[in-house]
Amino acid sequence: NIHAPKAPSIKAFAEAIGQAAALPSNYNSLVDPRDKDEVDDSLAALIPVIDFSLLTSKDPEIHAKAVHDLGKACTEWGFFLIVNHGMSDNLMKDVIEATRNFFELPDEEKQEFSDTSAASPLRYGSSFNVQAESVHFWRDYLKAFTHPQFSIPNKPAGFRDVAAEYCHKGREITKELYRGMSESLGLEANAIADAFGFDTDFQFYIANLYPPCPQPELALGQPPHSDNTAITLLIENGIGGLQVYQRGKWVKVKPIPGSIMVNIGDQLELVTNGKYNGVLHRVTLNNNVTRVSLALAHGPSFDKFVCPIPEIVKDGKLEFKGMNYGEYFYNQQSTQLVGKSRLDLLRISS
Ligand code: SIN
Ligand code: FE2
Repeated sequence: NIHAPKAPSIKAFAEAIGQAAALPSNYNSLVDPRDKDEVDDSLAALIPVIDFSLLTSKDPEIHAKAVHDLGKACTEWGFFLIVNHGMSDNLMKDVIEATRNFFELPDEEKQEFSDTSAASPLRYGSSFNVQAESVHFWRDYLKAFTHPQFSIPNKPAGFRDVAAEYCHKGREITKELYRGMSESLGLEANAIADAFGFDTDFQFYIANLYPPCPQPELALGQPPHSDNTAITLLIENGIGGLQVYQRGKWVKVKPIPGSIMVNIGDQLELVTNGKYNGVLHRVTLNNNVTRVSLALAHGPSFDKFVCPIPEIVKDGKLEFKGMNYGEYFYNQQSTQLVGKSRLDLLRISS
């Protein structure tokens, strides 16, 4: 059995061992029982698609219907696609290409950004947390805080500018989704954004590169997890590989050109007292083509104490204790990535 070194660049490693190699044993993910769950192809067609332009419609009936559909998607799936979101095809194409070009930089140049601390606003690395994991994942990443501070590297040329534009638009879309979600829960439109802190809210740019894997059926690009943030906007280079967990099955998400995939994360599950579902998802691999994805995650201000919104709990049972978001973020990023393990620690048992 080949045992790969602890933190290689997966890109360099995949190129070195070639496609005919056996998967290194410390990348074999089949030890997680959840990975034996069935993959269902029939549910894929039911993944909700939200027309974002209807959410901002001035026509009250159209707006109300869009809000209702959004709420339903968040409750039932915790995952949906948005179309007509105002982000241009060119901008999405350019930001994916710039991201890809970052990974094409020589290894020494990328290593300059390698940092094992989750507190670092900019870090390049592989897998999820090589220090804490027993099994690694077939993925290189670049993680950069992009709000309130903007920490995208200054190379390759042009990366910062295109990322800045994408991040700015992504934050606007997210704020509009927060408004629609608040309304769908019968709250003031500003309720969710308020609970997260308006101006110093966190935005996190997570670029992923999944090189071809010699035995893709044995490994994962990312294990089953929920995002520690509130809303993640996800785009990719059209390859596919993301699966979301729904009704006890894994559902393959087919990327629809021009759409943005939206993940509900832990912070929305928390403030909604569990009404919204922080969706479990994982990333599967293939053996012939490199997949690039860009997850733009949005969460509360690091200094915000986040807890279920009192108006939602009213006379019902309080499901979660609250927690400072900065602490939540560092905890989740510095342990193993396992299911909803971080959020589960806040769950109040009956
Ligand atoms: C993520 O889990 O946020 C990344 C998903 C993906 O690469 O499709
Ligand atoms: Fe994720």
